[in-house]
Order: sequence, then C-alpha cells, then structure tokens
Amino acid sequence: MMRSVLLAGAQSPWLRERAPRLPFVRRTASRFIPGEALDDALAAAAILSRSGIATVVTHLGENITDAAEARQEALLYGEVLGRIRDAGLPTELSIKLTQLGLDLGATRCYENLARIIENAGTSSTVWIDMESSAYVDITLELYRRARTRYPNVGVCLQSYLYRTAKDLAALTPLGPSIRLVKGAYPEPANVAFPRKADVDANYFAVARQLLGRQSQQAGLRAAFATHDSALIDQIKLHAQTIGMAKSAFEFQMLYGIRKDQQMRLGHEGYCSKVLITYGSAWFPWFMRRMAERPANMFFVLRNLVGG
Ligand code: FDA
Repeated sequence: MMRSVLLAGAQSPWLRERAPRLPFVRRTASRFIPGEALDDALAAAAILSRSGIATVVTHLGENITDAAEARQEALLYGEVLGRIRDAGLPTELSIKLTQLGLDLGATRCYENLARIIENAGTSSTVWIDMESSAYVDITLELYRRARTRYPNVGVCLQSYLYRTAKDLAALTPLGPSIRLVKGAYPEPANVAFPRKADVDANYFAVARQLLGRQSQQAGLRAAFATHDSALIDQIKLHAQTIGMAKSAFEFQMLYGIRKDQQMRLGHEGYCSKVLITYGSAWFPWFMRRMAERPANMFFVLRNLVGG
C-alpha cells in the first residue's frame, strides 16, 4: 500500500514541482544523492575509488520530451566522460533512454545513445537503465542494435517481470553486458510478479542463468545490482559451487545504501561498484528509493521534526 502511494507520488507532476523545494525533503534525499552538481558526484566517486570501489554515474532525468534537451543530455555526457578521464576515475555511465528522447521516437534516441557510446571508448561500458514495462520492448530493440555495433554497452533486466528469463535467453548470443535488478516501477500483475518472494526467487533463477555455461561461452558480463544480502550470499555460494572466479562477475549497489556491504564485498575480493546519481531532477528517483523501503519514511519524518 505504502509502496504504491510512494510510486504514484514519483509520477505526480504536482509533487515533482513542489516537494524538491522543501528543506526536509532535500535533507532526506541527500542520503542517496551526494549533490546536484557533477563535481559532487565525481568527488563521491573519488572517495569510493580510494576504498577500492569503482562507480557508475548517472545524470538524473527521465521522460524528456524536448528534442533539443534530449540532445543536450547526450552532449552533457560527453563532458562527464571527459571529466572522468581527466580525473583518472574507474567510473562508467548509466543512462535512461527516455532521458535521451525515447518518447520522441526511437531514431532520435538511438542517435543520442550512439553518440554517448562512441564518446565512452571501448574500455568504458555505457549502461542502459530499464524503465517501466511499456519501454521494455523498445529498450531491448535499441540495446540489440547498439550491441551489434559496439562492445561497450550494457542493459538492465528486471526480475519482477515474467518475461525476463526469455529476454535474457534471446540476448545471450550477443555476448551482452547485463545488470540484473529486481525492478523499481509500479507494474500490473499481468506483467510482473506481485509477491516479493517470487521476485526474489526469479532474481536467483536469472542470476544462475547469467552465470551459466551458455552465458559464459557467449562472453556475457554479469552485474548483480541488489542490496539483498541473502541473495548476494546465494549468488556467491552458487558461483563458488560451479567453480567461477570472484572476478568473473560484479555486484552493484546504490550510493548511500548498505555501505557496509559495498565495502565488505570489496574486501572479500569481489568487484563492488556503486551507482552515483546527480542533477536537479532527483525527485522521481528519490521517491522510488523511498518506495523500496517504506521504513525510509522515518528518515523523512526525522528530518521534518529535526527542522
Ligand atoms: P530489496 O528491496 O529486497 O532490499 C534488500 C535490502 O536492501 C533491504 O532490506 C534494505 O536493507 C536495503 N535497501 C534496498 N533498497 C533500499 C532503500 N531504497 N533504502 C534503504 N535501504 C534499502 N531498477 C529498475 O527498475 N531499473 C533500473 O535500471 C535500475 N537500476 C539500478 C541500478 C543499480 C546499481 C541498483 C542497485 C538498483 C537499480 N534499480 C533499478 C533498482 C532496483 O530495481 C531495486 O528497486 C533496488 O535495488 C532495491 O531492491 P534490492 O535488490 O536492493 O532488494
């Protein structure tokens, strides 16, 4: 119930406009976002890098419906890549296709995407986020197109969708880079598992598929993006059982969430990455973080009472 209310709030233009101006909302959001400026994101990336944690950076923004603005986002990522290179940071990019103009048409969006991938150079992967289920077909189509041309592009798959195991099987021959998440959008029961236990079980089933022989033979890169320690332990144990090296896959988490676990995985010899977001359009992203753990609302209340 609380999750649905928070996810509905994420999509409300009225709230998007007003809530980010409230000081207690800004204070709560600062737990998940180091700041609105690129400098804030890169400073956080540099600190994590000194602890042996690599990062992925994203400029917040989604459902951009102005072509010039969408193009501007692609150009901005060129600048971000330059700053990452100058600072010598182990930092990749993550983008949303609706930020690059997907709602305006696939062709324009693909041009913007291709520009970013080319700017990144072959040694740095550009990750494509997965948005709500209405975008899955077109996202996978554009991913397929990009992966056929470029080696350095990855895509996110969501374990709450019934279709994900099949989507993965279809992508595997491409030797894709896959980031597996549970999924963060409100979805109807005809497309996504309504029960968390089923989402978690499917996560592990798809994780096994990602580490399986076919995936490995195809050269697939597997990234497990979750903070769920039970699942992380299951994946580690499974990988160990099938004799897979710790370096053959990676874990990704979000900035500000389960820092203890991010560090522990690094110390244990796994590749541990943190996704850092920045930018002024942080409200929908922040509300999805609230919805993932309604107990986070206590932080909001504490910041409200604390003044
Ligand atoms: P789960 O929700 O079961 O949480 C497990 C534990 O982690 C909780 O018990 C709690 O301790 C901690 N935790 C999780 N979320 C928290 C929060 N917000 N605040 C505080 N503690 C929290 N989704 C999507 O649909 N498309 C995408 O492209 C991406 N991309 C993406 C990249 C990366 C790197 C990550 C880590 C996640 C995403 N997601 C995403 C979000 C993802 O779908 C999912 O909503 C969150 O990761 C939360 O799910 P968990 O797997 O952590 O499990």
